[in-house]
Amino acid sequence: MNNIYLIGFMGAGKTAVSKALKKKIGWKLEDTDDMIVKRVGMSIPEIFEQKGEDYFRKVEREVVASLTKEKNVIVSCGGGVATFEANREEIKKGGTVIFLSATAKTILSRVKRNNRRPLLEGKKTEKDIQNFLDERMPSYEKARDYTIAVDGKTLDEIAEEILCHIDL
Ligand code: S3P
Repeated sequence: MNNIYLIGFMGAGKTAVSKALKKKIGWKLEDTDDMIVKRVGMSIPEIFEQKGEDYFRKVEREVVASLTKEKNVIVSCGGGVATFEANREEIKKGGTVIFLSATAKTILSRVKRNNRRPLLEGKKTEKDIQNFLDERMPSYEKARDYTIAVDGKTLDEIAEEILCHIDL
């Protein structure tokens, strides 16, 4: 209802920012990826590999919808959440949607050292990330109420900027 949804590309800092927000306002924190992992009982790479992306997206849709009627929850959304119309409708109903926008360069620096993101395996150049980002940008823009550019800012600064848009 009055939740705060953080959306944006993988590596934009949604998880870290959601924790910084929680410290400031004490709301409950949910992470759609964590909820999926818990429900399915497998890691994200295992779900993609053994069950496929469509299955992942189905569970993702269920967990997103399960949060809509909740109150005072900070929701860190997986990078693909806002790319689906059904999810966009749910998060818009559920509260304020904040798009954390980062450059491909910043994203690459954050995602290059881990292999927890199946969609980025073999695609870790700045150009690959830029193309993927360009593809998703219209969805993020459709979903968001506010955009916060995160490059070069501290978590505290980003959290404060978000809170300027939230009626507590
Ligand atoms: C995805 C982003 C990931 C995770 C999955 C798919 C995406 O979450 O949900 O690997 O489609 O962008 P993060 O944005 O938290 O990395």
